[in-house]
Amino acid sequence: MNPLQASLEARLARGPVPAAEVMALALYDPQQGYYRRAEGPWGFDGKDYYTALDLGPLLGQTLALRLEAAWERLGRPPRFTALEPGAGRGWLGRDLLTAASGPFAEALVYLHRDDSPAARRAAEAALAPFLAGGRARLVGESEPLEPFVGAVFSNELFDALPAQPWRWDGTAWAREVLTASGPEWQPADPGEAGTWFAAQSDGLEPGDGSVWCEGLPGLVHGLSVPLRAGLFLAVDYGESAARLLAKGADLRRFKAHEVDGKWHEDLGEADLTADVDFTRLAARLAAEGFGELSHVELSRWIRAHAPLDAWGAAWLDLPEAERLKRTENLLQLTLPGLMGSRFRVLEGWREPAS
Ligand SMILES: C[S@@+](CC[C@H](N)C(=O)[O-])C[C@H]1O[C@@H](n2cnc3c(N)ncnc32)[C@H](O)[C@@H]1O
Repeated sequence: MNPLQASLEARLARGPVPAAEVMALALYDPQQGYYRRAEGPWGFDGKDYYTALDLGPLLGQTLALRLEAAWERLGRPPRFTALEPGAGRGWLGRDLLTAASGPFAEALVYLHRDDSPAARRAAEAALAPFLAGGRARLVGESEPLEPFVGAVFSNELFDALPAQPWRWDGTAWAREVLTASGPEWQPADPGEAGTWFAAQSDGLEPGDGSVWCEGLPGLVHGLSVPLRAGLFLAVDYGESAARLLAKGADLRRFKAHEVDGKWHEDLGEADLTADVDFTRLAARLAAEGFGELSHVELSRWIRAHAPLDAWGAAWLDLPEAERLKRTENLLQLTLPGLMGSRFRVLEGWREPAS
């Protein structure tokens, strides 16, 4: 039997287990969790899901331009630290470091932060030349960081945090739990989550509901503290709080490139994700002192920051196979209905202390 299933069954014998706790066990159990296993779960090669990074370097190239603009705005500091929590295989850092050029590249130091053993191994390979040259470093999730000027950025970090689904039945809230006979919605007090959801809706309808990430404030605070000045940027799957409530956001399971709602099956052997509540993420950043908060579709963000006409013209000189790959990468990130319209980019800015 799946070892996580066995330990969960012992707990189920004592009573229902909230879905968020099942998600935490499935992803982060120190030995068997999906993100703590030795073998990497990512990518196209027979694994469970892919991210924007599997599609090509365009996200990293655009990020390089966006971070260079932040570096300019900060007055071209001699060191610009870019911390990436949830950095996985380090591909976004690799693409960023590869694309950065000129004096900005000389200032840029990339910090990869992710305790997944498989992620760290893959990142050591992907970042090898940059690690050797002192332009990148791997840091642990609990390693204290010296204050820095630069950026904190992430791709699909927040959707991998354990989250609890809640539903409004017209008169009361229910939360999703796992019982010995399967998942159920059971009445419970939503506490702070209920206050937040009610404040985000003009009037809740039966069936409305969303996901509540208990760990969000602590993580956002921990990432904000060392960033003395600069950009906070998060690319993730999700929506505004009101839209999540209206659609009844729930947990999703990704297994072998199929997506379904069977979050309680194949624990530790499938990826689980929850939509990111961008309204709440922005509110947490505001509480940490960030300003200029916004979140837009990834496709719009790419078009705002990447010189697509110039890139398109330059790609004409590439060998055909490479040109097609770049074009496909661009279409995936910019056409309606594809990845670029399913993901959002949140930005917040912290001014240097005067
Ligand atoms: C969905 S994966 C995304 C990986 C990578 N960014 C990508 O796009 O391929 C989420 C990653 O977040 C990491 N993670 C979860 N909580 C974290 C935390 N508090 N600090 C740093 N990394 C975390 C997990 O170990 C996992 O590798």
